[in-house]
Amino acid sequence: MNEIIDISKVPVRKLYTGAVMPAVGLGTFGSDKYSPDQISEAVYGAVKSGYRMLDCASVYQNESQIGQVLARLFSEKIVTRQELFITSKVWNDQHREVRKACEKSLYDLGLSYIDLYFVHWPFPNYHAPGCDGDSRNPDSKPFSVEEFMDTWKQCEELVDAGLVRAIGMSNMTISKLEKVLPLCRIQPAALEMECHPSFQQQDLFDYAMSHNIVPIGFCPIGSPSRPERDRTAEDVADTELPEVVSVAQNHGIHPAVVCLKWAVQRGMCPIPFSVKEPQYISNLRCTTVDPLTEEEMALLQKAERNCRLVKGQVFLWPGAEDWKELWE
Ligand SMILES: NC(=O)c1ccc[n+]([C@@H]2O[C@H](COP(=O)([O-])OP(=O)(O)OC[C@H]3O[C@@H](n4cnc5c(N)ncnc54)[C@H](OP(=O)(O)O)[C@@H]3O)[C@@H](O)[C@H]2O)c1
Repeated sequence: MNEIIDISKVPVRKLYTGAVMPAVGLGTFGSDKYSPDQISEAVYGAVKSGYRMLDCASVYQNESQIGQVLARLFSEKIVTRQELFITSKVWNDQHREVRKACEKSLYDLGLSYIDLYFVHWPFPNYHAPGCDGDSRNPDSKPFSVEEFMDTWKQCEELVDAGLVRAIGMSNMTISKLEKVLPLCRIQPAALEMECHPSFQQQDLFDYAMSHNIVPIGFCPIGSPSRPERDRTAEDVADTELPEVVSVAQNHGIHPAVVCLKWAVQRGMCPIPFSVKEPQYISNLRCTTVDPLTEEEMALLQKAERNCRLVKGQVFLWPGAEDWKELWE
């Protein structure tokens, strides 16, 4: 019998559309390490424990297994569709057929609408799932406002058609947002961005907040199980940073949990991944008890190391040498 967390105690975020979502969700990318069945079982256990927000994507290749589990949760009356907040994302090779991609996610998830649908990356640059970090696609192109806005217009039409309730952007920069936001008929309600103590993206976070865009933080624990292709020698481990470890010791909790408490208290909506019941339960429960002090929040601000983990180098186009060009 797993622990049930009082969801009414979990902080919430309100989108400009009026929709409300919990300030912690469950990530569903298995990092090539966990199978779709393991992940969908974790979704079942997590929802049973109190999770109401799920971060999905077609490229995670597990939406149909998650759909089966959602059907089970609904038929067992553990939760209703209206109580859940479910995201999905259009992958890079489907920027020219967003409706088809969204309909496939709806079919796989067994839903009639998605709460928040993202453009996963602001490029149509495809690479095969699981390819190694050195692989490049000769068809890849740099960011183009025209290409992106064509994709975004298709997302806006999904809102018009009632297939999705809100739309969001992911893996953006301030410079790209400044170019596209004035052109949007329907503004993004959320921005999915990498965020953990060693990579806080304070400027992008502030920019999103000041534009009424809810920041959703991925890799909130520093993605300790990320695939080999996403690792470099310079990366730091958030859970080993002295600032994080010292706050963890103050509270007698795992450093991973400190990262989540910090994110939620800062105003972020982290989406930690775990298939392990004690982990995913503590990741939600930690937002309902024993908050960090102002001094601890200030100390964690000093954990910034400018350590981007998801560099996206496989999306580089011919002629581009450095992954930093993706983030201009
Ligand atoms: N929009 C995007 O482009 C994008 C990119 C990346 C990720 N995401 C989303 O963000 C989600 C989260 O990112 P992520 O999975 O890369 O990284 P993460 O949530 O930072 O790290 C997940 C790992 O942390 C460990 N962990 C979790 N809870 C723990 C706890 N309480 N104590 C100790 N260790 C704990 C687990 O490691 P073990 O497995 O070793 O136990 C787990 O696999 C993804 O699942 C996905 O939904 C989105």
